[in-house]
Amino acid sequence: MPNSLSPELRRALGERLRYYNELGIYDFYRREGNESRQRDSEPSQPALLQPELREEMPARKSAAVAEDNIFEVITPKPESAAADPVAALKLIREDLGDCTRCKLHKQGRKQIVFGVGNPRAELMFVGEGPGADEDVQGEPFVGRAGQLLNNMIKAMGIRREDVYIANIVKCRPPGNRTPERDECETCSPFLMRQIAVIQPKVIVALGAVAAKNLLAVNAPMAELRGRFYDFMPAGARADLTWQGAKLAVTYHPAFLLRDPRQKGEAWKDLQMVMKYLGLKPLAKPPE
Ligand code: URA
Repeated sequence: MPNSLSPELRRALGERLRYYNELGIYDFYRREGNESRQRDSEPSQPALLQPELREEMPARKSAAVAEDNIFEVITPKPESAAADPVAALKLIREDLGDCTRCKLHKQGRKQIVFGVGNPRAELMFVGEGPGADEDVQGEPFVGRAGQLLNNMIKAMGIRREDVYIANIVKCRPPGNRTPERDECETCSPFLMRQIAVIQPKVIVALGAVAAKNLLAVNAPMAELRGRFYDFMPAGARADLTWQGAKLAVTYHPAFLLRDPRQKGEAWKDLQMVMKYLGLKPLAKPPE
């Protein structure tokens, strides 16, 4: 931090950083140019600290990456010092704690459903939020929709233990309602950190809620499916080992249970993913 910061501004910055950290947001960047501008003028609000919340938009990502060299990370995430993805995910889970950051914590959730699977998975599935069964068992996709997801994974020639499964929100919305915007925004920094640790090759967004939140777009499923998107989680950086994931969108298994005629379309989406990952297609699509 520049030495010229007044004690009040320093305190205000500290408080703002603690506030963001409490929300699970860690990476902040300081524009070198702002520092001298800041020094020359009256101290202003701590607006020079900008959490990188919107980086998942592919179009904006390249601008953010291009500006890398003029930003400096000033608050590292706890998991950045972890020796391996297992330890890193544990640190993120500890950071989440007995989360009370959004209203879902007081709307009947039994427990937080963090995510499950291989911490080094090449393939990750992201759903919407835990349902009643997941809330009881503490694991994503263990109910009827989970059984169908398991069949879909098996039909891809892999096992559930090979992939990583998580949700946009980690607490069950009451009555299985759609998670609200503030709940998604509060929770998704933790999902972004999980993705940055796991570094999957492909993420499959299950359903419109997952797709719209991950891609920060508002479009119908028909427009979102059938192609790959480049995805870099907010707060993460491309490096030699990982340049981000490909993201594909398919129907939510719960939707497929209601409308099984769409299973063929979902199978096409998964075949696109299998081709990219070099997985052998099985003769029989998932039941
Ligand atoms: N539906 C979801 O979106 N996620 C789950 O974990 C279970 C059902």
